[in-house]
Amino acid sequence: MKKVVAIDGPSGAGKSTVSKEIAKALGFQYLDTGALYRAVAYYFSIKFNYIDDFSLLTEQEIEEELKNIKIHYKNGRVFLSGEDVSDFIRDPKIGEITSQLSTQKVVRDFLMPLQRSFAEKVDIVAEGRDMTTVVFPDAWKKFYLDASPQVRAKRRFEQLIESGKKITFEEALRDVIERDKRDCSRENAPLRISKDAFYIDTSELTLQEVISIVLKKVAEDA
Ligand code: DC
Repeated sequence: MKKVVAIDGPSGAGKSTVSKEIAKALGFQYLDTGALYRAVAYYFSIKFNYIDDFSLLTEQEIEEELKNIKIHYKNGRVFLSGEDVSDFIRDPKIGEITSQLSTQKVVRDFLMPLQRSFAEKVDIVAEGRDMTTVVFPDAWKKFYLDASPQVRAKRRFEQLIESGKKITFEEALRDVIERDKRDCSRENAPLRISKDAFYIDTSELTLQEVISIVLKKVAEDA
């Protein structure tokens, strides 16, 4: 395994921007594992466009469908059977389906080898929910980025408004709390703070400050 900087944390903690910048600064490849989960969810959303509640599918049904899914990831873009779906997977509806499907062990097992294969040839910065705990437990460096639900909801609210989506702050907060509950309480690879991860509360920090802290920590222990 090559060098892995593993970064976990809840949605809205600033992981993506920070991870991309850290990868750039270190000359590592950036791996957004949420995008892989989202691509799976996108496939299911198209295939089963008549359902909202993916808990209606049995594990066997999900496993059967997974056999049809071919995902590739390159330079921060994700491809489903060769089609670049990177923009479609950002839809909040897909985020919701992703949160449901990612609780399933069959989905997590399906994506595990793909995630690990990235670290076979090149050094990477991998972000997600279980990078430090399950996928790369022996990562070179581990970080956990956090922020209060209010701060994360505010970030989500501003982001969605900016991209033209209609949402209230209360809805954004409800989504954040709901997502946290599901990510943290699921049986399979729940989001938790690894004992050996460096914890950063980003609530009162700018992105630049978070990036500096991470880079300093990486250089310190290198
Ligand atoms: O980081 P994100 O918002 O793109 O992630 C979308 C969903 O995918 C989120 O609800 C949790 C799930 N996810 C996961 O379970 N494990 C990962 N390693 C990455 C994402």
